[in-house]
Amino acid sequence: MMMTRIFAAALAAAGLTAAASALEGDAHAPKDHEWHHEGPFGTFDRQAVQRGFQVFQEVCASCHSMDLLRFRNLGQRGGPFESEEYPNPNDNPVVMQIAAGYQIEDGPNDDGDMFMRDGLPSDAWPAPFDNEQQARASNGGAYPPDLTLIVKARSGGADYLYSLLTGYTDPPEDSHLAPGQYYNEYFEGGAIAMAPPLVEGIVTYDDGTEATVEQMAEDVVTFLTWAGDPHMEARKQMGVMVLIYLFIFAILVYLAYRQVWKNVKH
Ligand code: HEC
Repeated sequence: MMMTRIFAAALAAAGLTAAASALEGDAHAPKDHEWHHEGPFGTFDRQAVQRGFQVFQEVCASCHSMDLLRFRNLGQRGGPFESEEYPNPNDNPVVMQIAAGYQIEDGPNDDGDMFMRDGLPSDAWPAPFDNEQQARASNGGAYPPDLTLIVKARSGGADYLYSLLTGYTDPPEDSHLAPGQYYNEYFEGGAIAMAPPLVEGIVTYDDGTEATVEQMAEDVVTFLTWAGDPHMEARKQMGVMVLIYLFIFAILVYLAYRQVWKNVKH
């Protein structure tokens, strides 16, 4: 009796999942990954955000833009290179060094010409392509979306991105992939125009962490979650303070109530 009930429940759950994935164009439901920043008290794993920045910089940034990120954001409170010594991220030597590694177009100068100079902390993260047409031309017609808000822009958020980056497999027999398409069961339709960006050891981590595909995916998604929501930690802290305040307030109200009704016979 018990067993049949469990079985029925399992079937119902499976049926629902199938129906749900049919609604989403057959894409697999994302893996349920555990994140350091999950839940009302979750904070960003600072090391992971730093490693994730490295993955983004060395791998993803050659195709994807990050329009809302400025170099100085990397050194701001809560950022990957936050430093107590340099509360002003414009003075943060790590940030200055990263920025100086890029050539930025500036101008016009007194002759009316544009010129290139080393990047400054106040500069925006440089996009890999000049415009959408150029980006498409370099990617077989597909457009690599801007990654600043991608975690918020996709249903499933961090779990979806993690699943996508770790979800490349050999295509099933009956799939028809056009040239330049790759099979990924987490992508709507299954055929994605992004070649698997992560391969084991494509980056070398300074802190000795082994650069497996799963590790790099977790790190870069943690970085992208931070980039799309840099004030998450402050917001959660505020939430906790509000709860403490409400709790104390409730006690005071209760005591006041007791005081007011003290002499009234019930
Ligand atoms: C060689 C170029 C290239 C690199 C490198 C690359 N991507 Fe992409 N990416 C693309 C293209 C092209 C698309 C669009 C795919 C499509 O629409 O089929 C895309 C799409 C995406 C999407 C959107 C998927 C969706 O649901 O629409 C995400 C997220 C993404 N890439 C993340 C990353 C991350 C993270 C990295 C670095 C680890 C990375 N990409 C590296 C070319 C690239």
